[in-house]
Amino acid sequence: MPADFEVSPDISDGINVGLMGLGVVGAGVAAHILSNGSSLLGLTGRTVNLKKVLVRDRFRVRDVELPEGVLTTNAEDILSDPDIDIVVEVMGGTYPAEDYLKQALAAGKHIVTANKEVMAKSGSELMTLARDNNANLLFEASVGGGIPIVGCMMNELAANDIRSIRSIINGTTNYILTKMAQERTGFEQALVEAQGLGYAESDPTNDIEGIDAAYKLTILASLAYRRSFQPSDIYREGISKLEPQDFRYAEELGYAIKSLAIANLDEEAVQLRVYPALVPAEHMLAKVDGVYNAVEVEGSLCGQVLVHGAGAGREPTTSAVVGDIIEAACKIGNHSPALMPRNGPELKVKPIGELRSRYYVRLEVADHPGVLAQIAQLLGDGQISIAAVLQRDTHPETDSAEIVITTHPAREDSMQMALRRMENLSQVKKVSNTLRIEE
Ligand code: NAP
Ligand code: HSE
Repeated sequence: MPADFEVSPDISDGINVGLMGLGVVGAGVAAHILSNGSSLLGLTGRTVNLKKVLVRDRFRVRDVELPEGVLTTNAEDILSDPDIDIVVEVMGGTYPAEDYLKQALAAGKHIVTANKEVMAKSGSELMTLARDNNANLLFEASVGGGIPIVGCMMNELAANDIRSIRSIINGTTNYILTKMAQERTGFEQALVEAQGLGYAESDPTNDIEGIDAAYKLTILASLAYRRSFQPSDIYREGISKLEPQDFRYAEELGYAIKSLAIANLDEEAVQLRVYPALVPAEHMLAKVDGVYNAVEVEGSLCGQVLVHGAGAGREPTTSAVVGDIIEAACKIGNHSPALMPRNGPELKVKPIGELRSRYYVRLEVADHPGVLAQIAQLLGDGQISIAAVLQRDTHPETDSAEIVITTHPAREDSMQMALRRMENLSQVKKVSNTLRIEE
């Protein structure tokens, strides 16, 4: 990053956003834009204004407060407004979302969308329309919620021939499978919980029958193999046939059950599939639990790369959508992204002494009564609380013993002081090792 990077905001030259949808994702995006004006200005060099927000039901109680006059139920207030630069579509479904996207692109507006269904079914047509109209079409949030995978496939991994993609890309399904595996919860109860947390699609069939994952795999495979795949190209099985005993047997055999979305290149053909499968318990994908998603890509140059993170929910999806808005805003007028604004508030670097951590200490001590008490006293003087003590090896020939102490969280400078005092104890032969415990 260049050290002399300067931000030169031109406030008169703001970016106007028209947001279509104010549900789980839309409300997160609106709240972020409204409360992070100066950060967005710092990042894009422009003010980012939320000009209009489209909803179906004007009278619904919202969990975000919009300025007067912003809410509308008329899509034309966004599509026909020449001052709106970026249309953010977070309504979902194909109708009328796809028509709105086409109309906006034809008008030269930049698009940010989280709509995997539209991108899976008509992504290639929309991309062409975007290119023809010199507009950006960004869709990071359409796959994997907050995981940066779409941009990765399009840019960072573009030099690779992609051999395979193995992924967990439906948070609702993964949440349900995790609950069933860990708590032996029934399928219905786990589904209701996932819906309550805002993970599930409005029609949960899309999640549990693998339709949502098939849309996402269509997008990833199209990016990876540069072909326009369709959701119908994907072999698909849902998770509703799984029963509690499947999880018990899988565990006994050393496997986890995960709904996987897989694309792999086999000589000249691509195989595309979504189904619940047994995954060896020690494999990283077996450890991806709850609403988390992960995508493992194997490329000819990069080898295996794994991206892991929250695959659904308001904040993670807002992260991806707003990231795309920032990218679009930077591209409008060729602004370089201002990732290191000089004129931001001072951020101090915290000294290591102020760290709070748990500690592991291994000591070689004289094997005499009262030694442990002296060490405990020193730690207590430094307000350091002992979590566990182990004494395993004693060496009668040297009259010494090895002890290991772990602590509860304590300040680093207190710990260092206690260690120095310990080293000075005549009964302590050596402080052999001190490690921090990261949890
Ligand atoms: P949602 O909670 O159902 O919200 C949809 C919003 O769109 C609502 O505000 C609704 O208005 C509005 N809307 C729907 N149809 C409309 C129409 N014809 N005209 C005007 N407004 C309309 O959906 P969501 O969960 O936020 O998901 C939005 C999109 O993001 C979907 O494509 C979804 O697949 C994708 N996505 C969601 C998540 C997630 O975790 N939820 C994660 C990644 C991607 P009313 O409020 O008035 O009904
Ligand atoms: N219903 C989807 C999921 C939302 O559970 O992964 C994110 O696309």
